[in-house]
Amino acid sequence: MCTVRVLILILTLAVLHAQPATLREAADQRPLLIGAAANADEYGMANRLNEPQYASTLAAQFNMLEAENAMKWSSIHPSQSTYNFGPGDKLVAFAEAHGMKVRGHNLLWHSNNPDWVNTYAKTATPAQMSAVLEDHIKTVVVHYKGKVFAWDVVNEAIPDNPSGAGTPLRDSIWYNQPGIGQTGTGYVEQAFRWAHEADPNALLFYNEYSIEGPGAKFDAMLNMLKDFVARGVPIHGVGFQMHIDTNGYPSSAGLAQNIQKVTALGLQVHFTELDVRIRVSNGTASAADLQSQAATYQRVTTVCLQNPGCTAIQTWGFTDKYSWIPGFFSGFGAALPFDASYQAKPAVGAMIDAMQTVAPVLSGSAVVNAASYAAGAVAPGEIVTLFNVNYGPPSILEAVFDGSVLSSNLGSTRVFFDGIPAPFIYALVGQSSVVVPYAVAGKQDTVMQYEYNGVRSNSVTIPVVPSAPGIFSLNQSGTGPGATLNQDYSVNSAANPVAAGGAVQVFATGGGTIVGGATDGAVATGAGAQTLNVTATVGGLPARVLYAGPAPQLVNGVLQVNVEIPQGLSGPQPLAINVDGRPSQPGITVAVR
Ligand code: XIL
Repeated sequence: MCTVRVLILILTLAVLHAQPATLREAADQRPLLIGAAANADEYGMANRLNEPQYASTLAAQFNMLEAENAMKWSSIHPSQSTYNFGPGDKLVAFAEAHGMKVRGHNLLWHSNNPDWVNTYAKTATPAQMSAVLEDHIKTVVVHYKGKVFAWDVVNEAIPDNPSGAGTPLRDSIWYNQPGIGQTGTGYVEQAFRWAHEADPNALLFYNEYSIEGPGAKFDAMLNMLKDFVARGVPIHGVGFQMHIDTNGYPSSAGLAQNIQKVTALGLQVHFTELDVRIRVSNGTASAADLQSQAATYQRVTTVCLQNPGCTAIQTWGFTDKYSWIPGFFSGFGAALPFDASYQAKPAVGAMIDAMQTVAPVLSGSAVVNAASYAAGAVAPGEIVTLFNVNYGPPSILEAVFDGSVLSSNLGSTRVFFDGIPAPFIYALVGQSSVVVPYAVAGKQDTVMQYEYNGVRSNSVTIPVVPSAPGIFSLNQSGTGPGATLNQDYSVNSAANPVAAGGAVQVFATGGGTIVGGATDGAVATGAGAQTLNVTATVGGLPARVLYAGPAPQLVNGVLQVNVEIPQGLSGPQPLAINVDGRPSQPGITVAVR
């Protein structure tokens, strides 16, 4: 978000917090992808998207959908020369119309292969099978390029009770009957490589069941993932299917451990096919079972939110009217959050409750200088950005005044340093910016905590330094042309350079305390001075500092340094300041004529 907005201070009214009524509203505050598998008119069935309650529930409650069947081989590629994109396209169009993301499922599976390919496999050579698979993966992924943001590339390649070292694999036409001519996990790897060639921007997932808790199947999968990551195979995540019941598998600790082992590799986790089956007689479940089902939905939602890197929860369908469970698990049903009349079951409130009560996760390394993005330590008055905190306003709230100071409570968001709430520059789930209170001056470290809607994060202890200078960059990347003004207050740029011997105003933060003190969040009314010594270089040469202090009309914490450009320079020149021996980030430039 616009950190340079501090230089402009566009003020808007704070939006009052409203209690989320839907899964989607609650998820947008985390921010969590909340999805459902959905159907259009695949296999010649009546298009479910035309059923008003089906469509309205899907759009209101979820910010993501996945084709339950429409993008599988037998639906999308019914004969060797025919692709049937219609049903999948309808799901994509529905998602686009309702601002939802689309997961694609799936490109390679031992199951659901059309008759023609199973017949072909009986006499085909591995080279022929390879050509068929490459054509399929590339044709489907290219068709949905830019529309499907994440693909289950390979589904369920590992057998249920794997024994032996490495990654035992399930028999299939793609692996060994006859296979595509690759050994071991080579066929899985090849599928990821083809998908990546077809859409380099799509996130590519390996999707599996019975890997949600610890066990031999998870270990076999992890071996493959480690090998793929180590060798740079294009894989970005793992789908935990999560077809579960109320008997306690996976345990919360086991699920957390498995998520952490996957995310430690730099991969993300999506719960892709969550349903919680319970006993039914004549389609009806007991009230007690519906409650324990709700508790299970709440429990796994909680574990996901507690573990950064678990970024999506998707249910396998959403209404008990349409669910694969009764047909596949005899005696079970009622597995989804909405009943057969589209009424919310206890599971819906339970998931919303988890999304509203699980503590946001604050990481010390995600607190950075708002100008340079340098992490590590904070200085009094430094404008910092907090990234990745997973609970907050779903859309950006910009600074507002509370009397004469910037409010330290923006849409029920607060950030504390040793218990002192910090003035906000803006607040948004996943990215907020505040001014470090001057009261941290002189301390060794400060204890930070974040709060949204009254729910506090963990505390993190961050070292305090007297200064931590960072220069704002024009494009907010932290490098390149600095946010600098020429003497006539026009923005310095290659097209509008400063003359050597002239001066520029450099805008930075992290300059430390102000002579005479400064009020947190107040606007600097006039010139002042930094307590610490400020020097500057341009083009590597010492440059005279004409002024170093608060930036008049801007919030305390913005450091303005007026720098004289040494003679003899021209073109883009490296620009740096140094406060009390601590330098600003490298890579900032000023244009000199
Ligand atoms: C199921 C669908 O829900 C059914 O409609 C279909 O008849 C069979 O497939 N794991 C998966 C999903 O990855 O694709 C499966 O979906 C359920 C198990």
